Amino acid sequence: MFSIFFILLSAAAVEAGIAWGECNDLPDTMPSTMQCANFSVPLDYTTGYSNQSLTLQLARLPAAVQPARGSILLNFGGPGATARASLGSLSSTLMVMSGMEHDLVAFDPRGTGNTIPIRCHDDLGLLQQAFELIPTNASDTALGSVWARGTLDAQECYEASRETGSLVGTAFVARDLMEVVDGLEGDGMLRYWGFSYGTTLGATVAAMFPERIDKIILDGVQNPHEYYHDVADFEEWFDSDKVVSGIFQTCVALPENCALAQDGVSAEILEEQFWDLLYRLKYEPVVVGRFKVDYVLLKAVVSQSLYDSAAWPATALLLRGLFNGEATSDMESIIAAFYPITIEDVLDQAGLIAGRSGIHCSDNIPRAESLDAMLPAVERLYDISRFMGDVVTGAQLICSQWRFAAKERYTGDFHVTTANPMLIVSTQLDAHTPLRSAYNVSSGFEGSRVLEVEGYGHSSLAVPSLCTIDKISAYFNNGTLPEHGFACEASAQPYSGIGWDDIINAGAERKRGTTSSRIGGYVIPRSYAPARHAMHI
Ligand SMILES: *[C@@H]1O[C@H](CO)[C@@H](O)[C@H](O)[C@H]1NC(C)=O
Ligand SMILES: *[C@@H]1O[C@H](CO)[C@@H](O)[C@H](O)[C@H]1NC(C)=O
Ligand SMILES: *[C@@H]1O[C@H](CO)[C@@H](O)[C@H](O)[C@H]1NC(C)=O
Ligand SMILES: *[C@@H]1O[C@H](CO)[C@@H](O)[C@H](O)[C@H]1NC(C)=O
Ligand SMILES: *[C@@H]1O[C@H](CO)[C@@H](O)[C@H](O)[C@H]1NC(C)=O
Repeated sequence: MFSIFFILLSAAAVEAGIAWGECNDLPDTMPSTMQCANFSVPLDYTTGYSNQSLTLQLARLPAAVQPARGSILLNFGGPGATARASLGSLSSTLMVMSGMEHDLVAFDPRGTGNTIPIRCHDDLGLLQQAFELIPTNASDTALGSVWARGTLDAQECYEASRETGSLVGTAFVARDLMEVVDGLEGDGMLRYWGFSYGTTLGATVAAMFPERIDKIILDGVQNPHEYYHDVADFEEWFDSDKVVSGIFQTCVALPENCALAQDGVSAEILEEQFWDLLYRLKYEPVVVGRFKVDYVLLKAVVSQSLYDSAAWPATALLLRGLFNGEATSDMESIIAAFYPITIEDVLDQAGLIAGRSGIHCSDNIPRAESLDAMLPAVERLYDISRFMGDVVTGAQLICSQWRFAAKERYTGDFHVTTANPMLIVSTQLDAHTPLRSAYNVSSGFEGSRVLEVEGYGHSSLAVPSLCTIDKISAYFNNGTLPEHGFACEASAQPYSGIGWDDIINAGAERKRGTTSSRIGGYVIPRSYAPARHAMHI
């Protein structure tokens, strides 16, 4: 470790300084203030004096309040959520939440985006199949088929990416983060905010470089012990079914914007109708516009909508139509918004999936010789979540047959004292990363505190809350931590139609003269509809 660290420092000295410039082909939807830079890092941190480098494409949003007090690095999860698009589409919310005094910087981790791509299939037909991660309880033949799919994908990815596959992995990305910190020529300390998979990256960089941590927020927390060491991410799905129930419970609680509430049926009955519909679609799919709506499609749509309750009014409209045997153009548009259909969408998906497998599977240690060996894990996933259990099995079955191992893996126990304490954030009901994982991680990092956010959704971004803005900005600007376990109230309920932009503008109204001018210039996207992604964490 020591010698690698030394080389790191000398490499950084040569590379010091980052030349920020305009971003090429910046789409109109991106904030015009965004800046970009190419930044080179060592390709392989384990080979002492190798001079091969890798170019990271950095994106930066300058702090709303200048001069900036430094930079916060972000990772949006996936792995594979692209840095530029995520930073751009969430720019105003992130700037306000972070306290507006720091530049926000992000890059695509190696293995994703324009770094070292993990290619798997050149053939479009194969690509399309690979994208169809069929839930394993879709039929009594699906499980075997998905296992064989995993065998084939693992083999094809190995054939296509064998040169670079082992250079991908979270420990190297953690080193890349510290290279960027050195390149930024600030105080040499890391400020970081990671979502979802970005929390595993954050826990890893904190454990590898505890003395260089200024402030870290883990937001929407994975259990990193399971991520690295277990045959599947079990804990992740612990609250998924509660969020499925939440779609119906919150609908009945705020019926004006929920199509499903119109018939005056209770939440329990609505949920029962949902499960009946889902299983019936296995045998009797229906056609809505250009879509064949079957079990696979409905699981894909609803699992997407678990990320963020902003999607629930649309989900409810679709479900009501399906309950009633309708096939309207509204229903078709809703499906199209959730479910990739164009070739471009499929290619995007395939990139995401390859990146996710490339990073997660290379980090993850256990392998299985046969489907039989994985059956106990499959059963356990089914037991943990009736809804997500069979949706996520496919990704685990690929990892268990993956043929790369990351050249470096963090193998410690995440019991670490960082130079400054970390803030661990989770909503109370997150279908992808439950609150209990936030407490699990916090128990290892000395002095860290958990901030809960009341409500449903994946990470604090899913619940508009003025309180969350206060707590997160106080942490980044001042190092102030909330009481351990403090729960922030939501400022908007599911089906209210109220988003971040509304509450930020209302908050600015209240504090007119202090904050409103700072917020000026940032246009909050109306509602950030959930990304059209296949499952990502
Ligand atoms: C980064 O490198 C690419 C490819 O060489 C180039 O097109 C782009 O202009 C560079 N970006 C910046 C901000 O220098
Ligand atoms: C590495 O350094 C050697 C000697 O300086 C040089 O000949 C070679 O081109 C370099 N390779 C790369 C990939 O930069
Ligand atoms: C699998 O599907 C059947 C119906 O087709 C259902 O009865 C069963 O509960 C499902 N099991 C799981 C674990 O999803
Ligand atoms: C955290 O999670 C890991 C993996 O599930 C488990 O082994 C460990 O006991 C948990 N730690 C705490 C403090 O709950
Ligand atoms: C900043 O931190 C100090 C102590 O750490 C605390 O007393 C003060 O209230 C904080 N200020 C703000 C604006 O959060």
